[in-house]
Amino acid sequence: MTSNLFTPYKFNDTLTLANKILMAPLTRCMADDDLVPTQAMADYYARRADAGLIISEATIIRPDGQGYPHTPGLFTPAQINGWRVVTDAVHQKGGKIFAQLWHTGRVAHPHFFAGGDVLSASAQAVEGTVPRMRELIYQTPKAASLEDIKQLVADYAQAAENAIDGGFDGVEIHGANGYLIDQFLHHDSNRREDEYGQSAENMSRFALEVVDAIVARIGGDRTALRVSPGAYFNMAGDPRDRDVFDYLLPELAKRDLAFLHGGIFDDSMEFDYLGGTISSYLRSVYPKTLVGVGSYTAETGSAAIAANKFDLLAIGRPFIANPDYVEKVRKGAELVPYADTMLSELI
Ligand code: FNR
Repeated sequence: MTSNLFTPYKFNDTLTLANKILMAPLTRCMADDDLVPTQAMADYYARRADAGLIISEATIIRPDGQGYPHTPGLFTPAQINGWRVVTDAVHQKGGKIFAQLWHTGRVAHPHFFAGGDVLSASAQAVEGTVPRMRELIYQTPKAASLEDIKQLVADYAQAAENAIDGGFDGVEIHGANGYLIDQFLHHDSNRREDEYGQSAENMSRFALEVVDAIVARIGGDRTALRVSPGAYFNMAGDPRDRDVFDYLLPELAKRDLAFLHGGIFDDSMEFDYLGGTISSYLRSVYPKTLVGVGSYTAETGSAAIAANKFDLLAIGRPFIANPDYVEKVRKGAELVPYADTMLSELI
């Protein structure tokens, strides 16, 4: 029933996956105090090396990108070396792994980086507090200056180069889930009046500059992007956001990326202003390799691929509960159900 998941998929001349199951990026907050990946993280990823491609947990590109405790980084030599232990372990077991590059923007908190500005597209705060740290109330961010934007783009490109130095097979730029890049792409968080705001082209500019800088540094064949055209997390939706993504996605299609990945927890959720689900909208405007995700089982994901709704399937929570997810699906064995309590340990 799921046999179409077990055939290889060629992204490009650089990269062919052994199967069509991706491990979705999953933040685990288990790096050490210097945001260096640990041996336990290397073991955790290595146990999942039979995924066609692992996408790492979101990894911050610089200190002010941090919004949660103990999320790993890719900006110090120790962090790069720590990731090399992870990528070596995955490669030794025949796997492939991309780094997900992250800056949380207005979802950052100075608690994690010893003070300083929280940067976003505009001075529009997100409501609430850091999860499980109620004393840390989200602050009103500073609208990034043109100088700040230039530096952010440069720092994304440097982090991509660091990822390659750390042994990753490529990077997925985290443009989804209401974090920094997404904050430029939605009207809720982008109220700018300069060349980064108001029109679809302007609101897409930061995302495209980050993509282009990374492609220039490591090549489009090793670069992917995750986007959330439907706002659902850390963000309020606005029907005008549709125009932004209608502009952005064909622009991305010109750039020959490895893949585009939807960012959503449940892909049965419909967005009025997108005329349907995240995957159906992305398929309608983006003609290249698309990864679907969001509450799929191997069976429903396999059926969606057979129906040409997307090309590859990313699996999140079931991979937390089942390190041997791929093997179990291949054999038709029963899966352990996911529970939030599993987040306290790296099994
Ligand atoms: C996530 N998700 C997520 N997404 C992302 O782009 N970067 C990340 O670091 C994380 N971290 C994360 C942690 C945890 C504990 C969960 C449950 C989810 C979202 C994830 O990649 C995926 O889109 C969703 O989990 C939906 O897929 P499943 O779990 O229904 O297969």
